[in-house]
Parts: sequence; structure tokens; C-alpha cells
Amino acid sequence: MGINIAIDGPAGAGKSTIAKLVASKKGYIYVDTGAMYRGLAIHFLDKGIRAEETEKIIEACQSAKVTIRYEDGVQQVYLNGRNITSRLRDEEVGNMASKSSPVPEVRAKLLELQQGLAREQDVIMDGRDIGTCVLPDADVKVYLTASVETRAKRRFDELTEKGIPCDLKEIEKDIAERDERDMTRETAPLKQAEDAVLIDSSHMTADEVAAAVTALIP
Ligand code: DC
Repeated sequence: MGINIAIDGPAGAGKSTIAKLVASKKGYIYVDTGAMYRGLAIHFLDKGIRAEETEKIIEACQSAKVTIRYEDGVQQVYLNGRNITSRLRDEEVGNMASKSSPVPEVRAKLLELQQGLAREQDVIMDGRDIGTCVLPDADVKVYLTASVETRAKRRFDELTEKGIPCDLKEIEKDIAERDERDMTRETAPLKQAEDAVLIDSSHMTADEVAAAVTALIP
């Protein structure tokens, strides 16, 4: 088994930014598990399934094959052989991922894929349950968080920069709702692993957080 670094935390805490920085500094593979949940969410949306239709979600899992490839070091997500990476960040996809990820069959489908990647190489993997469920024996576990206001502002700036009109209060509300769903679900809820190091990035730059995480690696 290679080196395994787990980063968990709520939406918008900066997990992917930090994980990418540390991955490139250390030569690890960055595994974005949220993208896998988003990949399955696209499958459900394309089938016209609504988030409340749990039975249909379970059935649809059987006809979905999510695979991960690395092209120029960047994770690409394939759904049944089709590259769907460009759709992953759509708002409706994120919402569907948050609403369908509590279904145990959805989680079971992706667990093996995640653990397989970590068995084969040095990885830094981010998500909600990496330190608690996916990689309980990870070499380093980090719980990265930031206030709802900070996370909403970051998302607002990101969308504004892309020229996408948005409302800060709406984003705050969305983030708070997603936190609530991710933290209170029955299966693999978002929580800090007992042996995870807590980092609050509200008043830190990305480089400072990446340095703090790198310093934890033996
Ligand atoms: O990190 P993200 O925003 O791309 O994740 C999208 C949704 O997927 C998130 O709201 C909850 C779910 N998710 C999960 O349940 N477990 C993970 N390890 C990663 C994401």
C-alpha cells in the first residue's frame, strides 16, 4: 500500500484546492471522491430520476459504471465509457449528489473504487467519509473546515469570475442545507475522525493550509 492522506470537510472548505497543491508537491495522485458521487448523480439526472425516488436510484446504480482516468495528471470521470468531467460542477449535479449519496447502495458502489485506487498508489483523497470509512488506516487525516460565510463568499467569487450571475445569500443558504444533509445522514455522515487534525481555513491562504497539511506527512 502507498501513502494515504485523507481530507474530509464540508462543501467549499477548500479540500480540492489543498489536495491538488499537496499532490503536486509530493507527487501523489489526487482522488476527488465528490466527483464520483457527482458522476452517479449525472446518471440519475439523465434518466429523469428525482432525488426522492430512492428505489429508482438503487435500480439505476446497476446500470452505471463510473471509472476514473488520469490525463496529464488530472482526474477524468467516465460514466459508462463517456467522459462527463465537464458537467461535474453543475449546481443541479451537486445537489443531486448530496441528495443521492446517503443511499447505502450508492456508497457501496463507489467504496470499492476508492479503496482500490488507494491500494495501488500514493494518494491524497478528499471527501466526507474518507478518514472515517474509506481509509480508516490513512497515514494522515485532516478535517478541513471554514465558516459558512467564508465558504459562500469563495463560491460567490468563483462563479462571479466565470461570469455566472449569483446571489450570496442564496449560496449561503444552499451551503448550510448541504452541510445539514451531509452531517445528519445515517450512512457515513460527515464528521471529524477521532484521529484527524482539525484545520479551519477561514483566515488562511491556500498555501498556508497546504503547508500545514504537508507538515503532517511523515
Ligand atoms: O465534494 P463535493 O461537493 O464534490 O461532493 C458532492 C456531494 O457528494 C456531497 O454533497 C456529498 C457527497 N459526497 C459524499 O457523500 N461522500 C464523499 N466522500 C464525497 C462526496
